[in-house]
Amino acid sequence: MKFQHFPRIGLALSLALAAAGVSAVAPDWSKTPSKKITIFYPGVSPIEWMVTGSEHGGARAMKKGETCASCHDAEAADMGKKMVTGQKLEPTVIKGKAGSIPVMVQAANDGTNLYLRFTWKQPAGGAEKMDKDNAVKLAFMLEDNKVERANLSGCWETCHVDARTMPEGKDDKKTKYVTGGSLASGKYYDLLQWTSKGTKHDGYVADKRVMDGGKALVDAKGEQKNGEWVVTFTRKLTGGEGDIALAAGKTYNFGFAIHDDYTHGRFHQVSLGYTLGIDAKADINATKQ
Ligand code: HEC
Repeated sequence: MKFQHFPRIGLALSLALAAAGVSAVAPDWSKTPSKKITIFYPGVSPIEWMVTGSEHGGARAMKKGETCASCHDAEAADMGKKMVTGQKLEPTVIKGKAGSIPVMVQAANDGTNLYLRFTWKQPAGGAEKMDKDNAVKLAFMLEDNKVERANLSGCWETCHVDARTMPEGKDDKKTKYVTGGSLASGKYYDLLQWTSKGTKHDGYVADKRVMDGGKALVDAKGEQKNGEWVVTFTRKLTGGEGDIALAAGKTYNFGFAIHDDYTHGRFHQVSLGYTLGIDAKADINATKQ
């Protein structure tokens, strides 16, 4: 009599575990190819600056469809140095801040989940802490080829001159946004973030930034060992509102950022725009394992 409830408990438990994504098995990272992407300190370089020909040398070529990465991928470290030293586009120089960070990025999928892994060496820091709770935060964004120009400029479509912490940002509630963005039109970026204090966020950027409420993120974990950070995300291929549905054979626009050394707001290191493929040829291919 007593024991007849056990199978049910077992079933309930395994369903709960599956729902929580515990059944997800991370890929063998030692066998997964990695791509080095150098993220850099962007200073004050909103999309408005990028597309103004009198300011930015790349503006005209972007109109013809050239990507940021096609011009800048190999020189990201040199670019970061210019901004971090205040030589260009940065009125508030932070002493000791790294101009760039080379990050190894790996991706895989298992038909149910996307797995992403970021590995980098902790640069020197020591500036005044803006976000005392978090030594490091890592966020990535995905976009489904609907936001105009996102295939060229990656996350820059969400970076605007009037956002909070920008010198001209008068409203400290104004976060990232996509011009003309909305969930209904599909013009939004999916946004996922891991923080070193142990929180994870599953949100999106449309007409404004929303940090939580998504249903796709299963887990985000990170640790530092011997001065090296390893951060991994497990994300369901499909989710709910604000979660871009990922399908095999397709590619998505992808970019990521690290808030290094207790920074917040715009004081992060960012990547140019790249493509992420689900079993499809792209800058980073999440192949099935
Ligand atoms: C056709 C090539 C080309 C494209 C495409 C391009 N740029 Fe540039 N970019 C340049 C050149 C040339 C400069 C240096 C002269 C200047 O400031 O205009 C520059 C300057 C910059 C700078 C200032 C730092 C520096 O090294 O002078 C940043 C930041 C930057 N670009 C980022 C981007 C981003 C982000 C995109 C995409 C949204 C982009 N660029 C697209 C050519 C390009």
